[in-house]
Amino acid sequence: MAQKKIAVFASGNGSNFEAIAAACAGGRIAARVALLVCDKPGAYVLERAAKYGVETFVAIPKEYASKAEFETAIADRLDEKQIDLVCLAGYMRIISPELLGRYGGRIVNIHPSLLPAFKGAHAIQDAFESGSRVYGATIHWVDDTLDGGEIIAQRAFHYTGESIAEVEEKVHALEHELYVDTINTLI
Ligand code: GRF
Repeated sequence: MAQKKIAVFASGNGSNFEAIAAACAGGRIAARVALLVCDKPGAYVLERAAKYGVETFVAIPKEYASKAEFETAIADRLDEKQIDLVCLAGYMRIISPELLGRYGGRIVNIHPSLLPAFKGAHAIQDAFESGSRVYGATIHWVDDTLDGGEIIAQRAFHYTGESIAEVEEKVHALEHELYVDTINTLI
């Protein structure tokens, strides 16, 4: 059977990208990261991709006439690379109908909360400020709702300390493990 191909979409730091790329390189995921799609030139994730020899497609939205054209260019590149699974990992854009029409059902996202609680861009801070004692991360299918697609996997931990930095560190470490394990299940 041909090896499955993953595309990761990321906009910034890329620690989840690196966890996935390292797991593929080390044989912990039976697939290959065939493409990194990044919408931010200069994002640190691009350096991580270079380190792992992963091909990158830097797609800058303002260089396209419309969001549909931007996403068409991305979907064309995914087609070219024959991508089986798209993993959003800190990709700070809503996926719109163009890409969902072509790759819907094959796009997953990781979110740093126990969805449906704490949707949006400040999930860890929102959870911390709520006084929660349980934190976690969720992998879900991507649809046209914000962090609202069907949940695939979740993992949680109990934390009663006072440091948001510590919570963030624990959430990210847990995310890396959860993403690797979940991708393995999906492929
Ligand atoms: C992660 O917390 C992820 O859940 C969220 O964005 C963050 C990305 O971190 N969607 P990184 O770029 O993978 O380090």
